[in-house]
Amino acid sequence: MDSILVRGNGALNGQIPIAGAKNTVLKLMCAALLTDEPLTLTNVPRLADIRTLSDVLESLGCEIAQLANGRVLALNATQLTSHKADYDLVRKLRASFNVLGPMLARAGEAIVSMPGGCAIGARAVDMHLDALERLGATIELKDGYVHASAPKGLKGAEIPLRFASVGATENAMTAATLAKGTTVIKNAAREPDTKALADCLIAMGAQIEGAGTETITIQGVDSLHGATQAVIPDRIEMGTFMIAPMIAGGSVELLGGRLDLIPSFAEKMQEAGAIIEETKLGLRVTKPDGPIKPVNVTTEPFPGFPTDLQAQFMAMMCFADGVSVLEETIFENRFMHAPELLRMGAHVEVHGGTATVTGVDKMNGAQVMATDLRASVSLILAGLRAEGETQVNRVYHLDRGYERIEEKLSAVGANIERVKGS
Ligand code: EPU
Repeated sequence: MDSILVRGNGALNGQIPIAGAKNTVLKLMCAALLTDEPLTLTNVPRLADIRTLSDVLESLGCEIAQLANGRVLALNATQLTSHKADYDLVRKLRASFNVLGPMLARAGEAIVSMPGGCAIGARAVDMHLDALERLGATIELKDGYVHASAPKGLKGAEIPLRFASVGATENAMTAATLAKGTTVIKNAAREPDTKALADCLIAMGAQIEGAGTETITIQGVDSLHGATQAVIPDRIEMGTFMIAPMIAGGSVELLGGRLDLIPSFAEKMQEAGAIIEETKLGLRVTKPDGPIKPVNVTTEPFPGFPTDLQAQFMAMMCFADGVSVLEETIFENRFMHAPELLRMGAHVEVHGGTATVTGVDKMNGAQVMATDLRASVSLILAGLRAEGETQVNRVYHLDRGYERIEEKLSAVGANIERVKGS
């Protein structure tokens, strides 16, 4: 298995291009199941998760062509040849559960493996299922699979979500595009990925209002058609690379970076001392002279501070001049990076959903590993300033969500390389 070696190497300077968003493209790919016409996606990131979801979609009869060196995906679900998404595929990628809404809406039937928990938490799907039941589907759980059926089609309904779940909002919204009548999703997720999915569905002929707000209204239509849609920039990749120069020093321009995608995160970065400027090409982040200031954060649904940047922010706070408190409210087990950071000399105490970080002057390289994507990248970030060599193992987690991270960071001066494993 490959690993990544990082050696603390001083300031980073230069430009980093931001790829298309993982959590947008995965949902847009599932939307291809809603129509018998081609859906073409541009600005696609090259990530392992896309290959995994492609396998799921292909198993359902969707043809997928990669064009422009993987930057463009052409998806064509002229005919669905199967209505069953297997456990062996779904367990590899939770986002595969997002085929449920589109498949049910298009075919009147869908059998999708329950995704199960994962390292960061139990990740229930009760709200997804409740939403589809409200739309008139019959849901049965059998042998670890969700059997959803609506032979006479779905009917518009009011869907109040008890929590603004990203996945449940998206499954409900896609299913409702082909339901008869009006659906109103209340307490909907406002994440940019969910708004981008709505924009794609609208380009395919759906009637959706209010995406990006707490109330989304969908007027069902008889059918959707093909479209070409560009994937928005990955705000989590962007946030990760904004933290890199704060830890290592220097000044990095993020090509394609956008402040509107990370409002709370940008505010917290500025509190920590980052100088953030909008440029013609994106955003520039500069670490000023002097120490990083300690900053408390609480993760929240968008527009709050994203859980997907909590681990990276913790890596930065490990070097701050004082004590910071990080509270994780979205997932119950998302501090797996903390014990690994301790191995590098950090001072972090975790009690339930709260981590207290006392900044230290120096950390040391070590062998580390993490069992989720964002935790893994936080260890690379810490390694940029640690003395000696940090070896991050289990790199397949990183490859799920970061495109060529070692190339992007070495292009701005980091000493980082991938070591091929057996
Ligand atoms: N939840 C339930 N019941 C449900 C749905 C969710 O209890 O029916 C709970 C979850 O267990 C969790 C919380 O609600 O504790 C939030 O879950 P949500 O549904 O909002 O998240 P998700 O759709 O499973 C997406 C991203 C995650 C990101 C979260 C929060 C994708 C593919 N994944 O997950 O991304 O952390 O939203 O913003 O879009 C990542 O990229 O590293 C990642 C984990």
